[in-house]
Amino acid sequence: MLSVKDLHASYGSIKALHGIDLEVNEGELVALLGTNGAGKSTTLKAISGVLRPVVGSVRFADEEIANKKPEAIVKKGISLVPEGREIFTSLTVAENLRLGAFSSYQRSRYQKDLEEMFALFPILEERLNQPGGQLSGGEQQQLAIARALMSHPKLIMLDEPSLGLSPALVDQIFELVSALRDRGSTVLLVEQNAERALKIADRAYVLKNGRIKFSGSPQQLESELDLASVYFGGEEGKGEVTV
Ligand SMILES: Nc1ncnc2c1ncn2[C@@H]1O[C@H](COP(=O)(O)OP(=O)(O)OP(=O)(O)O)[C@@H](O)[C@H]1O
Ligand SMILES: [Mg+2]
Repeated sequence: MLSVKDLHASYGSIKALHGIDLEVNEGELVALLGTNGAGKSTTLKAISGVLRPVVGSVRFADEEIANKKPEAIVKKGISLVPEGREIFTSLTVAENLRLGAFSSYQRSRYQKDLEEMFALFPILEERLNQPGGQLSGGEQQQLAIARALMSHPKLIMLDEPSLGLSPALVDQIFELVSALRDRGSTVLLVEQNAERALKIADRAYVLKNGRIKFSGSPQQLESELDLASVYFGGEEGKGEVTV
């Protein structure tokens, strides 16, 4: 479904990605892991067209989408829930959700979609007329994910959805991400919380300094690599897992 080949991306003169290869098949939940600054968010930004220009190939549903505009990429069916959620805090929950359903076709089925979102995220129905800024961190994260789902993405990319949440809310978000995959969504999940992400992922990639250092099943990753090194970039087997 998504096939990234030899992808390079930079911020001005700073090179952040040095040739990434990554595949996501339909119905899979793929985790993208790595230390701070490894290039995880950059990879998602490059795929979604937020960061341009890039060098290399990004194919989605057999079409080249590298360097297309973010709006065009959303229309093709890729939705990004960015790091830090970025919901509209002064707009109500209902208004935020309506913004997610952007095309006229989607607006015509807005009510039905809304009901589906309430089934997945009951709290949003209770908070429908409250400004997004009055929601808790976990509720805002649910709103950000629901807003992305309103555009009926074929692929949803989540950038650290559990960041900054209390342990109970982290549980909720991981359950939700699993539920998304179970209902047939294809998910590319960027996470700091490697252990949790590996419990729900079908496959995983580990990025380090803008390069893929590992790809395989969660079981392979757990047996072949020390998670501490994934996280702290230290020498294999010497770091301390404090996640
Ligand atoms: N706007 C920017 N301008 C310049 N350099 C940037 C910018 N955003 C990121 N970088 C650099 O690009 C590299 C990759 O950053 P990126 O945000 O992709 O990392 P990440 O893996 O998402 O890290 P984190 O876990 O901290 O979110 C880092 O060296 C970072 O300093
Ligand atoms: Mg990031």
